[in-house]
Amino acid sequence: MGSCCIDTISRHASVRKYTGEPMPQEHIKIILEAARRAPTAWNLMPVHVTAVVDPLKKARAAEAVGGQDHVRESAVFLVFSLDYDKILRAASRLGVQVASKGLAHLVEGIIGLGIMAGWAGLAAESLGYGVTYIAVYSNPCGVRDAIGLPRELIPLVGITIGRPAELPAPRARQEKVYSVDDKTPSLDERAEAVLKLYGERAERFFRRVLSVEGYVGGVEKKVRECLREAGYNV
Ligand SMILES: Cc1cc2nc3c(=O)[nH]c(=O)nc-3n(C[C@H](O)[C@H](O)[C@H](O)COP(=O)(O)O)c2cc1C
Repeated sequence: MGSCCIDTISRHASVRKYTGEPMPQEHIKIILEAARRAPTAWNLMPVHVTAVVDPLKKARAAEAVGGQDHVRESAVFLVFSLDYDKILRAASRLGVQVASKGLAHLVEGIIGLGIMAGWAGLAAESLGYGVTYIAVYSNPCGVRDAIGLPRELIPLVGITIGRPAELPAPRARQEKVYSVDDKTPSLDERAEAVLKLYGERAERFFRRVLSVEGYVGGVEKKVRECLREAGYNV
């Protein structure tokens, strides 16, 4: 406990059951500071992090992401929102004409936001907490309203954090996700590694998650609507 990272990473498994113990303020601070120290492109930090501890807000957020009990039962639900408007407001105060918010902002911002969330998650795990990342991007405007964020923020990912009431074993991963220099496995070898991981349940799983009528189709619609509402050109 309290040290990071190789051991912490090798022990990682999403924890979705918590003891209900509240998190001391000093631990919330350490985790939030880990997020704040993370690198972002140009050091712009186009992200706002919200620590949700209010039970009512957590319950509303749990519903907004499809009724996920672990959001409600976590000690803290951390929400990472894209926040380019603060940068644009700062630039406009100086009279700088800026490009409208588009794909470049999204790619750059989401990478930084993801790294921040990763560092916060690792910090929490190194303090002995269990975490699960939450697809807030499945309903960004719904989560925004559920936890009372201002309309210009786009929440994209969350982390449920709490003292673990279960210790799941680390899950298997695909084998062929890295290579050195030019030894990239062929597309078919990489696809084979995907199928090997999911085994017999692959077809049903992909239909549920990846098909147009499945999960990804709904997410595409909601995330685009929410980004457009906040003035992103997508
Ligand atoms: C971006 C992202 C979104 C995720 N969304 C959810 C979610 O909404 N609910 C959930 O229970 N787990 C969610 N997960 C957790 C993954 O399902 C989990 O990390 C993955 O299956 C690997 O399992 P492991 O974390 O135990 O190794 C998410 C993970 C990531 C990185």
